[in-house]
Amino acid sequence: MSLQIVAGTANRALADSVGEVLGNELAPVTVERFPDGELRPAVDGLQGADVYVVQPTGPPVNDHVVELLLLVDACRRAGAARITTVVPYFGYARQDRRGRAGQAIGVRVVAEALASAGTWHLIVVDPHAVALEAICAVGVEMLTAVPLLARELGAGLLGERVRDGAVVVAPDLGAVRLAEHYGALLSRPVAVVRKTRLSGTRVVAEELVGDVRDRPVVIVDDMISTGGTIEAAAEAVVRDGAAPEIVVAATHGLFVEAAVERLNRAGIGRVLVTDTLAQPATPAMPLGVCSVAPMLADAIGRLHRDEPLDDLLART
Ligand code: R5P
Repeated sequence: MSLQIVAGTANRALADSVGEVLGNELAPVTVERFPDGELRPAVDGLQGADVYVVQPTGPPVNDHVVELLLLVDACRRAGAARITTVVPYFGYARQDRRGRAGQAIGVRVVAEALASAGTWHLIVVDPHAVALEAICAVGVEMLTAVPLLARELGAGLLGERVRDGAVVVAPDLGAVRLAEHYGALLSRPVAVVRKTRLSGTRVVAEELVGDVRDRPVVIVDDMISTGGTIEAAAEAVVRDGAAPEIVVAATHGLFVEAAVERLNRAGIGRVLVTDTLAQPATPAMPLGVCSVAPMLADAIGRLHRDEPLDDLLART
């Protein structure tokens, strides 16, 4: 079976980098958009191939989800022998439980739709819902970018600052395991913010558990969307006397609405994310971007050769 990479339009640069690492040219794809907004992807030359469809489902989430579903269907109809769907950022993963009666559970709907479109296996990176594996009928490889980001945090000038007594801060209870992972890799202690979400954009930090006084702080999360969570956590650590120039690390940088202004306002000295989602070439804040392409290429290569991926997987 030949290995073929098919890229959607959500982050073509990432798919190109994955292809470069693997030494594979991307398969030809066209995505036609009709005047009413409907999409029609088409692929060629996939007969009997082991196909990897790369598409993060970040904003605009609904367009990218639908495009991905149609792409997987196109690959199946083009005769792909098996299809692995590579979703570096999995949109709807925050909808993993009902906040109140009558709500949908989006992550399950999207996972089922991907499976029924023809996905044989799913590769994701630090999904918000670790239950994704239990939800999905198909095999899921949950990779983690934490070692990559921790390596960057521990390197160079930033590394000196991090080693100089820094505290890793989880901006909410849901991020504690993640913060512990960073803390273990950087040999730094962990503090936790107790947050309450008032709306999609408004978050308050109720209290900080742990000592950050006069210490450099690294706030870590799986994703930054509106920046509300990081802003509230930054306010909490400043209130508790943390040293200035807070560092933030998150796997997925969505930066929607006024996120950049919020982060700049919150006294963040450096934000580190990965390229699971496309980032601007000239960001309006001190942004560092680590590429997950080598890790994705490694995972794809191993799946293709039927080799284990254990050491790449998130331990949750
Ligand atoms: C929520 O639990 C997530 O881990 C993130 O903290 C959250 O989704 C970030 O969203 P925002 O940047 O809008 O606060």
